[in-house]
Amino acid sequence: MTVRTICCIGAGYVGGPTMAVMADRCPHIQVTLVDLNAERIAAWNDADLSKLPVYEPGLADVVARCRGRNLHFTTEVDGAIAAADMVFLSVNTPTKRRGLGAGQASDLRWIEASARQVAAQAMGHTIVVEKSTLPVRTAETIQSILSASQDSSEAESKTFSVLSNPEFLAEGTAISDLEDPDRVLIGGDDANAIDALVEIYSRWVSPERILRTNLWSSELSKLTANAFLAQRISSINAIGALCEATGADVKEVARAIGADSRLGPKFLSAGPGFGGSCFRKDILNLVYLCRHYGLEQAAHYWEQVVDLNSWQQQRIARLVVSRLFGTVSGKRLAVLGFAFKADTNDTRESPAIGICRDLLEEGAHLAIHDPKVGPDQVAADLGREAAASRLGLADEGSWQSAAGVLDAVEGADAVIVLTEWHQFAELDWTAIVARMRRPAWLFDVRGVTDAEAARAAGLRVWLVGEG
Ligand code: NAD
Ligand code: UDX
Repeated sequence: MTVRTICCIGAGYVGGPTMAVMADRCPHIQVTLVDLNAERIAAWNDADLSKLPVYEPGLADVVARCRGRNLHFTTEVDGAIAAADMVFLSVNTPTKRRGLGAGQASDLRWIEASARQVAAQAMGHTIVVEKSTLPVRTAETIQSILSASQDSSEAESKTFSVLSNPEFLAEGTAISDLEDPDRVLIGGDDANAIDALVEIYSRWVSPERILRTNLWSSELSKLTANAFLAQRISSINAIGALCEATGADVKEVARAIGADSRLGPKFLSAGPGFGGSCFRKDILNLVYLCRHYGLEQAAHYWEQVVDLNSWQQQRIARLVVSRLFGTVSGKRLAVLGFAFKADTNDTRESPAIGICRDLLEEGAHLAIHDPKVGPDQVAADLGREAAASRLGLADEGSWQSAAGVLDAVEGADAVIVLTEWHQFAELDWTAIVARMRRPAWLFDVRGVTDAEAARAAGLRVWLVGEG
């Protein structure tokens, strides 16, 4: 079977970039992204490419090449499904907030709703591809929903194959990850369907990087990859805290252990703890699955990765308060970076949210600057509007948005770097310190600034993982 039309349900951080690259590499395939969120679809269709709903380096160029040619964005879900040979499910799968498994299990309501819509609208033979990250054995649920639609007599000619094709892109590097992936993973038991998907990826991915597994291995591999990556971050953050206590330097330790080819140098940067929409939810999902299958020790083991991460986030605000003479009430603190990592406008699970909330709770006045996150998003994440003006020695903290670094540091007692934006490596510390109140502090929670230059300019510096 050769695929000529693709529909992707969910035009978010994964669906958007993934389908844009697929359309770019497969000009013979018509790719339609559908979403319930009309505002998001309008932004994908905006003539001004700086208004795309997802910021990713290189994404606007890819969209500019394909949009209107073989890449389309629409809210007309039914028609796009009916026309598709292959439907990707790329909807959100957040952690359940209530009911059975609340706080750990994945909320599968969007995946079920989209599977039902495919069941109702598909025509002929349709390959349904799980692109969302899902608990192992979700394909079984999708298959049941799809086959139920085949039971009715008017739908006799409808047939489906379900594949798992999890996405490994990281935000901020999505386009290069998609264009040159370490591997593409395809799980399934229908060889023809797998071949059809392999044919698509083969346009730009070499065959040895396209891995085939059974459905369950594919689904579980995605959760496992995220769990292992997150585990490295919790491990290095635990060691970073020990470095601070002992005089060791976490960057030196990371370099030393990363030189071991069995460990490798990546994912060894200490920081404020991992954020992003995936790691926490996927590990909690793994914990839930382990418990579901009666594997309490395994569940407990993975839970520790998340617990360590929460502890790391909480200790940052505490140490800022303690260095600033035990109180930040009424003090202006410049927060540089709010996104969960550099090169994205995404703030989901950003460590900055919890750290800022803790500081607000202590009565601080925060001046927040992020190159890509605007004040509306910050207000939504902090659960409070920006202050019209700076408050005095109030019990309640407040925050304002700062257009640039120099605005943020005006009159501040401290600069707190929470995201590793490359701009923050090149700050003019002499100009900054001239605007701050003394003694002026730099808390570099990412280890990205020129700490020596900051010290030379007269700042007191706390660097994550530096003893
Ligand atoms: P997202 O919230 O950015 O996008 C999901 C989109 O699906 C939303 O725009 C939502 O409106 C839409 N949607 C939900 N139900 C729908 C329906 N029935 N019909 C039409 N549209 C519908 O989420 P995301 O970050 O793109 O993540 C999607 C999936 O990919 C998740 O399972 C996630 O775990 C996984 N994933 C995410 C990343 C990442 O970096 N963000 C990486 C790999 C995998
Ligand atoms: C992650 C996975 O990397 C990706 O494969 C998966 O598809 C989705 O989840 P993402 O969350 O977009 O991607 O970014 P990632 O680069 O993994 O960073 C996650 C968090 O860990 C960020 O908050 C980042 O700042 C933090 N991190 C990463 C560290 O603190 N130290 C590191 O060494 C690496």
